[in-house]
Amino acid sequence: MEPGVTGPDWHAGRAFGAGADGDARTGPGGSSMPHVPTPGPPPPDASRRHTVAPTATGPGALRRRGYVTPPEIQWFPASRWPSLSTASTTRQNMVSMNDVRLRQLGSTSLRVSPLCLGGNVFGWTADEHTSFRILDAYTAAGGNFVDTADSYSAWVEGNQGGESETVIGRWLASRGRPSDMVIATKVSQHPDFRGLSASNVRAAAKASLERLGGETIDLYYAHFDDPDTPLAESAEAFSQLVEEGVVRHVGLSNHSPGRIRAWLDVCEERGLHAPVCVQPLYNLVERGIEDDLVPLARERGLALLPYFGLARGFLTGKYRPGSAEVDSPRAGKARAYLDAPRGRRVLDALDAVADRDGVSQAAVALSWLVDRPSVVSVLASARDPEQLADLLPVNHLRLDEESAALLTRSTDPEPSETS
Ligand SMILES: NC(=O)c1ccc[n+]([C@@H]2O[C@H](COP(=O)([O-])OP(=O)(O)OC[C@H]3O[C@@H](n4cnc5c(N)ncnc54)[C@H](OP(=O)(O)O)[C@@H]3O)[C@@H](O)[C@H]2O)c1
Repeated sequence: MEPGVTGPDWHAGRAFGAGADGDARTGPGGSSMPHVPTPGPPPPDASRRHTVAPTATGPGALRRRGYVTPPEIQWFPASRWPSLSTASTTRQNMVSMNDVRLRQLGSTSLRVSPLCLGGNVFGWTADEHTSFRILDAYTAAGGNFVDTADSYSAWVEGNQGGESETVIGRWLASRGRPSDMVIATKVSQHPDFRGLSASNVRAAAKASLERLGGETIDLYYAHFDDPDTPLAESAEAFSQLVEEGVVRHVGLSNHSPGRIRAWLDVCEERGLHAPVCVQPLYNLVERGIEDDLVPLARERGLALLPYFGLARGFLTGKYRPGSAEVDSPRAGKARAYLDAPRGRRVLDALDAVADRDGVSQAAVALSWLVDRPSVVSVLASARDPEQLADLLPVNHLRLDEESAALLTRSTDPEPSETS
């Protein structure tokens, strides 16, 4: 089974928003997304100096030709960051330190960077030393949001699950935990802690905290739905952890809109601490949530935190027709996006915008995603600091309307295409 996606995927087979094929699209660029007014007034701290790290595809001199700031997203200047040991941090990653504008996570007081660092590589395609270098570079550049799960990376031979949390915990302990660092983890897929029964959620949270260190999990997700446990039991269990201060906020991942709605309703009826965010599969080539989950998120005030922001690396542009094999466990599924016409079209659109703005294709793809309605922060991982440098501009880059529309159009399905 797909590493990191170890349970039922309610959107499986709906790549490219297959459920919306043929629908009239009304938003900018022919998208079905609600129209985002542009160019809005610059955010409150637009006068601040913005710099980006040089990237593999350009000098890094970002030409900012207009903001597209969804009205529901509130921006905050980043607070001070402690000096980290930057022996292994590249100089270019340091230039944007303290410059990232944090975004409010739903109705909470949490404020997070636009790029959420994916942690499923730690203990898998990044060893501990490299993971520390990635985390150093990410935080030095102003990032404050790391995503993991108790099951990462149980699929690797010799691992048991919890390796990613252990690496993050050791890194936090060795660097001193920055006060506004936000760590998210998940329960239900660890081999020893499966499902969402009350006893399992409680035991798994304790085990996660032991690995991560500290007394509270900032954001605790139900990783996958558990149809075998009454939903009310799971909702009560998560809420009780919030009540006790073990968890600050609750999130749901890979749940269908119907189950999310039911969970929220139970919380309302019983006065429970409700989920504040949802972590779905969503990116430029996987837009299945736009018809159902995005409207629900808007309606119920949920923050969207999409995973696979780079479509497993495909949206970095390193998979091309006829190009050399990529040595990665992600390569098979990533390269498969080339099989669909839209997969090839999106590469052309990414190349055009990346060339014009002097940033990487990866940063352009993530910037498109971070400006979608209700999206607060986008998850993406890097196997080393060099890959990470290509992603960091998303913390500053805002695409103009024309670029966003070009990208949106490139993955809108053609009438003749089936997904
Ligand atoms: N809730 C869930 O069920 C769920 C499921 C999956 C993931 N997630 C979360 O979402 C995060 C992001 O997903 P993901 O890491 O699996 O996929 P992703 O972010 O879509 O792709 C990241 C991968 O792309 C490649 N890459 C990144 N930057 C690159 C660059 N500059 N140049 C070339 N290649 C580059 C690397 O893979 P290579 O090693 O192949 O180069 C990297 O590991 C995860 O870490 C995890 O925290 C959650």
